Amino acid sequence: MSDKATLEINGEKYEFPVVIGTEKEVAIDIKSLRSATNGIITIDPGFKNTGSCESAITFLDGEKGILRYRGYSIEELAEKAHFLEVIYLLIFGELPNKEKLDQFHADIKSHSIVDDDLKKILDAFPKSAHPMGVLSSLTSALTAFYPSSVDVASEEAMYNSITTILGKFPVIVSWTMRKKQGLPLEYGDDSLDYVENIVKMMFKSPNCEYKQNPILVNALDKLLILHGDHEQNCSTSTVRITGSSHAGLFVSLASGISALWGPLHGGANQAVLEMLEAIQADGGDTKKFMAKAKDKNDPFRLMGFGHRVYKNFDPRAKIIKVAADELLADLGIQDPILDIAKGLEKEALEDPYFVERKLYPNVDFYSGIIYRAMGIPVDMFTVMFALGRLPGWIAQWKEMRRNQEPIGRPRQLYVGETYRPFVPVDER
Ligand code: CMC
Repeated sequence: MSDKATLEINGEKYEFPVVIGTEKEVAIDIKSLRSATNGIITIDPGFKNTGSCESAITFLDGEKGILRYRGYSIEELAEKAHFLEVIYLLIFGELPNKEKLDQFHADIKSHSIVDDDLKKILDAFPKSAHPMGVLSSLTSALTAFYPSSVDVASEEAMYNSITTILGKFPVIVSWTMRKKQGLPLEYGDDSLDYVENIVKMMFKSPNCEYKQNPILVNALDKLLILHGDHEQNCSTSTVRITGSSHAGLFVSLASGISALWGPLHGGANQAVLEMLEAIQADGGDTKKFMAKAKDKNDPFRLMGFGHRVYKNFDPRAKIIKVAADELLADLGIQDPILDIAKGLEKEALEDPYFVERKLYPNVDFYSGIIYRAMGIPVDMFTVMFALGRLPGWIAQWKEMRRNQEPIGRPRQLYVGETYRPFVPVDER
């Protein structure tokens, strides 16, 4: 592989360095393109061919269906690790030993109380508000309550901000759900492990003692690991670009939550379940919906299918499909929605339209079935995604600030009117 790439414009040749990542990925470094060519830029809507940064957090190979956090395969992590270990791994780069993990957990627990005044903000939202809007607002509001989160120059302040948000975010998540359900806003129990505590905060009933269900806790732990990070996706890029203006961690995360909300990104898990329910209500005719998805005059897309990067299979979807089967069997639940999903998947995988376009089930296709079996309301599904993605966003934000990346500011190709003189209103 040559270490230079040559670009020829109008007979003039320009050379740019070729850089190679640790997994042998190749990139052309065009940092000097504008200055060398006197203002020429590249154009790449949706950044389909553009690397926005160098990152050491997550590696994924869309052709081979590989996903690794800090070098560890997603399959191994989902099987052997706990979410808290994965949080540490993503943010600090190494798996913690027992002592470090315990200290990390203790530090998070020391931040697990949320200022009571935040409840007033939550109270002002109508019950009809979508939980993602509420979550984004409350996360942003945390900055007002804990302003030291912006000082990234200090190692201690950075660690403090990270443990603060890891302590408070699950509380906000559970309050967001409980407010909608008209339930009292509870705290968890710091004697529990991180995910057990989340489950208790969400599901504890005010009129009886809470009994932990290990099947449910394990399934959620696995699901959160699978959502932990996914390199430069839409919400992560949003977090990095917001943070690149030196905005604080919490507001950067809030902007990521907003980006995640959309149905083409994290919002797909809600959209998948609504689609499966619509198919069920319509009599279960999957072929009709397949035809709609293929019809270019119909805006309908098969939600939970396709991915910008995975063009073979999404390794997370494989794990989730098995987890959904296991959870439903363990809980003794028969869900006809799962049968519809499996039928739809089978048809799509054999259909030339989906085969030619390399459209496979993605992480969101089966996750909703698990959330539903856990008793999580449909409009909370994307909130659960956010809970899982939180460590990834934090790790990416931290990396971006530590690498002293410049402010994110893309260029554009202007295609509007050229200069025209102003015409006063009575002459138009
Ligand atoms: N159903 C029907 N057709 C599809 C679908 C789908 N789900 N996804 C892509 N296509 C078609 C698309 O119409 C296009 O066809 P053509 O080449 O004839 O114009 C072709 O496949 C390529 O699609 P694209 O939109 O150019 O691909 P993209 O990389 O820009 O978009 C995507 C990726 C995930 C936004 C898209 O596949 C999609 O909208 N999927 C449904 C929503 C979804 O499940 N999103 C969750 C993604 S995974 C989790 C996450 O990121 O949060």
